[in-house]
Amino acid sequence: MFRLLLSTIALAATAVSHCTRPGLTEAVDEYLSAQQSGQVSAFKARFDNSTWLGYFENTKKADVDTGILTHPLVISYNRSLYDTTACATFTEFYVNDLNAPYVIGTQLRFANHRINKVDTIITKPGDWLFNITGNMYYAPKENWGTIPEEKRDSRDTIKKAADAYCDLFNNPNITVPWGAPCNRLEGGLYGGKGLPNDTCNAGVPSGIDMRNRRYVIDETVGAVDVMLDFGGKSGGLPDSHEFRVEGGKIRYVHTMTDDANVVRSCTSRRDEF
Ligand SMILES: *[C@@H]1O[C@H](CO)[C@@H](O)[C@H](O)[C@H]1NC(C)=O
Ligand SMILES: *[C@@H]1O[C@H](CO)[C@@H](O)[C@H](O)[C@H]1NC(C)=O
Ligand SMILES: *[C@@H]1O[C@H](CO)[C@@H](O)[C@H](O)[C@H]1NC(C)=O
Ligand SMILES: *[C@@H]1O[C@H](CO)[C@@H](O)[C@H](O)[C@H]1NC(C)=O
Ligand SMILES: *[C@@H]1O[C@H](CO)[C@@H](O)[C@H](O)[C@H]1NC(C)=O
Repeated sequence: MFRLLLSTIALAATAVSHCTRPGLTEAVDEYLSAQQSGQVSAFKARFDNSTWLGYFENTKKADVDTGILTHPLVISYNRSLYDTTACATFTEFYVNDLNAPYVIGTQLRFANHRINKVDTIITKPGDWLFNITGNMYYAPKENWGTIPEEKRDSRDTIKKAADAYCDLFNNPNITVPWGAPCNRLEGGLYGGKGLPNDTCNAGVPSGIDMRNRRYVIDETVGAVDVMLDFGGKSGGLPDSHEFRVEGGKIRYVHTMTDDANVVRSCTSRRDEF
């Protein structure tokens, strides 16, 4: 009886932890194909309808059949994180189209080897520091490549670095493991000049609660994406903060913030948060 129970537990454990990098990669490829073609049927065929949590655009429930995926876009740049522990992915891609540029970040979540949540942040001209030229110029020059196994940080270290950064916005006493150099691509604005003393510890506002954090962690590249509600008076802006951590310290930060719907006064945009 005890033996039977043990083997049942072992079986259950295998069933839930069966989430492989090739499996996740296949789903992301299908997602990007859908975005390129504007055809969503093959992507939708991967949905797990029994555990379905929803399709979201800028944190609002939306209809996949009329959403951004149904508009064919030419993808100029893409990079993804694969989280085989949480069974989730994050994909960042740029559409370098002079007439309709986009910077988009998408988290996919999985259950039973199938997609059960699609969470997309869509940014375009008018959003916080949007500048596709900046993204296209700087992102491909950065090294988000695979880190040798013996030098990799743990999930916990990577997550804690991201949380420290996010917590700093609401508590100036937090100690953040800043890398030196550290470069932030905030919207399309690059912080730093390619010098060894480039820092991300500048221009961090205060009194901003970064809530409702959703993580995708990929230890192989030392990276984590955190989707969150960027606090403040307007009730939280749809936002993605992605970090590359090396040796426990923050090396790169990429942000995407959808603030196009914020009503602006004569004050600076930062004052509104
Ligand atoms: C889940 O539902 C979608 C549409 O609602 C459908 O296209 C898809 O084939 C379904 N998937 C499965 C595995 O039944
Ligand atoms: C995404 O990026 C990879 C690596 O640079 C590239 O091989 C692939 O073709 C890109 N996919 C799309 C859809 O652009
Ligand atoms: C956009 O980024 C490019 C590259 O960094 C820069 O040359 C340009 O001045 C930026 N445009 C605006 C409007 O800030
Ligand atoms: C930060 O530290 C200062 C000085 O110790 C203290 O007065 C302040 O209350 C602290 N702030 C927070 C948010 O913990
Ligand atoms: C970084 O180094 C450069 C060149 O050595 C120097 O001009 C600059 O003032 C330094 N910046 C900071 C923030 O220390």
